[in-house]
Amino acid sequence: MSGAPEGAGPAYCLDPVARVGGELQVPGDKSISHRALMLGGISAGRTEISGFLESGDCLATLAALRALGVGIEQGGAGHVAVNGVGLAGLHASPRPLDMGNAGTAMRLSMGLLCAQPFSSTLIGDASLMQRPMERVAKPLRLMGARIDTRDGRPPVILHGGAALSGIDYAMPMASAQVKSAILLAGLQARGTTRVSEPAPTRDHTERMLRGFGATVERRGATVELVGGQRLRGTAVRVPGDFSSAAFFIVAGCLAAPAGLTVRGVGVNPTRTGLLDMLRLMGADITVALIPDAGPEPVADITVRASALHGAVIPPQLVPLAIDELPVLFIAAACASGETVVTGAEELRVKESDRLAAMAEGLGAVGAQCQLLPDGLRIQGGVIRGGRVRSHGDHRIAMSFAVASVRAREVIAIDEVANVGTSFPGFPEAARRIGLALRESPEPSGRV
Ligand code: S3P
Repeated sequence: MSGAPEGAGPAYCLDPVARVGGELQVPGDKSISHRALMLGGISAGRTEISGFLESGDCLATLAALRALGVGIEQGGAGHVAVNGVGLAGLHASPRPLDMGNAGTAMRLSMGLLCAQPFSSTLIGDASLMQRPMERVAKPLRLMGARIDTRDGRPPVILHGGAALSGIDYAMPMASAQVKSAILLAGLQARGTTRVSEPAPTRDHTERMLRGFGATVERRGATVELVGGQRLRGTAVRVPGDFSSAAFFIVAGCLAAPAGLTVRGVGVNPTRTGLLDMLRLMGADITVALIPDAGPEPVADITVRASALHGAVIPPQLVPLAIDELPVLFIAAACASGETVVTGAEELRVKESDRLAAMAEGLGAVGAQCQLLPDGLRIQGGVIRGGRVRSHGDHRIAMSFAVASVRAREVIAIDEVANVGTSFPGFPEAARRIGLALRESPEPSGRV
């Protein structure tokens, strides 16, 4: 599931460095930025977003909402104002909605648009066009939606004019995107919609819906809402993205003897499983909560280098660190002893097959690891260095940049263009903490 053609596009080259440190902020949370735009668009009145992530993925959602008739003003520096049109105020897009690399944009839009009186077609880049969409289409069809996919993948065609009814749905996989799509459809359905999750997943949609004035209940593993509720525009403060902070958290745990602090990071407990995993491996992490941050908890996170050891990662932590596992694998490759991660089969259907891409890349830099059907078994030890393919996957590219704190030789990372889908400014941030990252407009060639 490669986003970019083999070896194509710009590359990073990282010289080995012995230590990192200092402090930084990371850009706004991607999940929360998507949701703020969407809920703002279907609310009555104006929504003011601060800390918005101006990345490829979120700008795809922004462009889609504009094509659907929502007025959005970009004020710069993360300020975005959305002039909500209400659920009945959207209109048909004159063209297919191109979600780029963004699975969240596509899946949540399916829930948002399947109950509208007009039809919509959703497309994306080469990676997104290969990703599974039936996991969302199936429950939405049970609600009455009429949806076509091509062998389960995009393009997704949402046929307008369906009248939806609420459902009780037990998700077969722990997916916040599926849960959120069902809740967005449930908002437009007759009766009550209930979604149960097999394990806790990020709950940004539920928290934000409440912020927009909706009533959303949670009973154990089930989230419930009544259809027909109207949303009112509000102010949304987007915290720093924990998933972007994760690269620096791991770099600091490996190589910041004097400490490294990431300020203003979202620490919603459904997102911070990486901290628990790293602590199991012996990491030194301090989380200082910032008071009165709003519906999403926010903190300054300080890490200090310590001797990490391998661990058997409890599978129940996996959904709470689903986007951070690639960089956890780097920590494991630099730790002493063996780390085993299982229960992570969802990684096979992300922007790339992240289990296969990480196993390939770890092998390429001289680390020892075994690819399991649902995880990786990693022997910590020496990182030699070498040339890694990111398979067009932003998180694979950024994870291998972190490995340069333990490498003996240069690490070259190909196909890094998609880093901008989640973390514009990553190279500058990496250099700020002390990574020796050079950008090249061409593939790296031999190193
Ligand atoms: C996301 C949910 C997760 C995550 C993705 C963002 C979201 O996907 O991997 O990067 O914003 O809801 P799944 O719901 O497929 O696990």
